[in-house]
Amino acid sequence: RKGGYPHFMLKEIYEQPQVLRKLFSSGRREIKSLMCPRDIKQIVVVACGTAYHAGLVGKYVIESLARLPVWVDLSSEFRYRHPLVDRRTLVIAVSQSGETADTLAAVREAKKNGARIVSICNVVGSSLTRESDQIFYTLAGPEIGVASTKAYTAQLGVFYMLGLELALRRKKMTETSYRQAWKSLLRIPALQEEVLRSRSQIQRVASRHHHFGSFLFLGRNINYPSALEGALKLKEISYIPAEGYAAGEMKHGPIALIDEYRAVVCIAVQSKIYDKMISNIQEIRARSGRIIAIATKGDHHIRLHTPEVIYTPKTDEFLSPLLVALPLQILAYDIAVFRGCNVDQPRNLAKSVTVE
Ligand code: M6R
Repeated sequence: RKGGYPHFMLKEIYEQPQVLRKLFSSGRREIKSLMCPRDIKQIVVVACGTAYHAGLVGKYVIESLARLPVWVDLSSEFRYRHPLVDRRTLVIAVSQSGETADTLAAVREAKKNGARIVSICNVVGSSLTRESDQIFYTLAGPEIGVASTKAYTAQLGVFYMLGLELALRRKKMTETSYRQAWKSLLRIPALQEEVLRSRSQIQRVASRHHHFGSFLFLGRNINYPSALEGALKLKEISYIPAEGYAAGEMKHGPIALIDEYRAVVCIAVQSKIYDKMISNIQEIRARSGRIIAIATKGDHHIRLHTPEVIYTPKTDEFLSPLLVALPLQILAYDIAVFRGCNVDQPRNLAKSVTVE
């Protein structure tokens, strides 16, 4: 059942391009059916864990494309907060399993206040789908590994489709730029395959860092959630303490942690704030932190700052989380394997959290 792979997690990492191909080919038409209040004033995303990180990327995507405010909340916080939602709010619940107790409770709370519920879910017929007004399936197939991988990039895929659809409806995007953006989106699976072909490069980085006692993951803007997700992947399967941080927050605390024992994964793909990330890298270097950079193919300049570079192919900045996720997943996977951990069933964790 592992299709020749040593672990389900690795198999699921490798399935991502085909999952996205399928998702985009059926989703392109299906997303047009989105039922959204005409007089919508905000979107609220509720989710837990990796699904929450997908929601954070969704916020950047929808706000920048459709110019609509998006609030992202952990389901476990939202449900007890007497949240500000009403019938002009679209609530998007994100869950791979559709059985996460806190997300179900959050949805019930939102419904009491008249909000419309759209779910992004992977499991057909799950409890969440029965509670929702509309469902967009991630079509990722069964995800067995406890660490979510293909479900995450599929959730991102749905957010991109939603963002584009809302942008068009709200006339924040012309037909031409909409078609152009779809063209870039459809190129992503092939670019993911390119990343997967370079696994040996990531494996070598993992072999040199699996003994580090702690990791920091830094990202900015749309890749800030990627940093959170990279840290979550590493900690849950390798048990190495790992923190994700917005790089701009370095000086507000985390820089105190930097020394030669700290590995710092810096997401430094090409973007309009690339130079800011480079300044952060210089600050870390000056304090002897061990830097692993995730950069865009062709960026030789980054090697002036660190020899440990993992390259991802060039794409539009707003789509980069769909590529950056893969080396982060593989890095976590290979580090956990080097440490002899049970990657598919890490200690203390269940695939779906059906109690609060
Ligand atoms: O089934 P869900 O997407 O609702 O699950 C949410 C989290 O429990 C889940 O993403 C968890 O954080 C994963 N183990 C992360 O890899």
